[in-house]
Amino acid sequence: MGDLSEKQYTFEEIETIAKYLKNKIKIVPKVGIICGSGLGSLGDAVTNATKFDYKDIPNFPVSTVMGHAGRLLFGHIGSTPVVCMQGRFHFYEGYSLSACTMPVRLMKLLGVTTLVVSNAAGGINPSYRTGQIMLIKDQINFLGLAGVNPLRGHNDERFGDRFVAMNDVFDPEINKLAKSVGEMTGLKEIQEGVYASVGGPTYETVAEVNLMRVLGVDAVGMSTVHETVVAKHCGLKVFAFSLITNECVASYSSKETPDGEEVLQVAKENEGKLKGFVEKMIPHLAKSEL
Ligand code: HPA
Repeated sequence: MGDLSEKQYTFEEIETIAKYLKNKIKIVPKVGIICGSGLGSLGDAVTNATKFDYKDIPNFPVSTVMGHAGRLLFGHIGSTPVVCMQGRFHFYEGYSLSACTMPVRLMKLLGVTTLVVSNAAGGINPSYRTGQIMLIKDQINFLGLAGVNPLRGHNDERFGDRFVAMNDVFDPEINKLAKSVGEMTGLKEIQEGVYASVGGPTYETVAEVNLMRVLGVDAVGMSTVHETVVAKHCGLKVFAFSLITNECVASYSSKETPDGEEVLQVAKENEGKLKGFVEKMIPHLAKSEL
């Protein structure tokens, strides 16, 4: 697709993409999964997958980021029908937030009821260590607070209401369950905390890291929050977690610097255990009572 920096996807456009895919797949996915940077192999958990490269889906953006495959997978995890996005779209790539979040609405139109969102994030909380998982209990939408929100502009009621409560987007019961499931699958020191998103692609200055600490941020990344906003708007349940891929630099005397290669490397090293975790979580998330 061409320039998507100002693109506003309409209900009809997303419906057309949904119809195109529905004609080619035999399942109705119940859970949707968005794989974060370097976490594309969560898609390996999907059995008998039907795969679509983004570039082959009409009117679909393409992911330009290294570590992102750019594929939509349909298949099963256990007995649960799922759709999995291997590669998401980021604001820093130049896409509008409508384009970044279009796949969430697409999932809704395909029949998804629960969205699983994963990401690679920097640890702001000084006690967090690289390789740990943080279950997201709340978020700070820095872009949103500044007026850059995916729901800005015309509201199509077919997706949801004009005003959207965000105080209850993350379910403490799901996180409680995820903690015990994670511990059973061998994840160590699972954290639960507040995720904040920045526009990127720059990593944070020392002053910004310290600002976020004061604000109660535990982990920072460049994705997720606009996806959860759009998911809440259209009535999807949300389960989200971060893999801490680096410890944010909070001191001028530190010689450390974050870099994209390191983030991907840590994600790669941890993707096996995350795959096991997601596999075990999916049957619980597919149950309607949660
Ligand atoms: N900052 C912002 N985004 C990130 C980071 C970080 O330190 N690590 C992974 N994504």
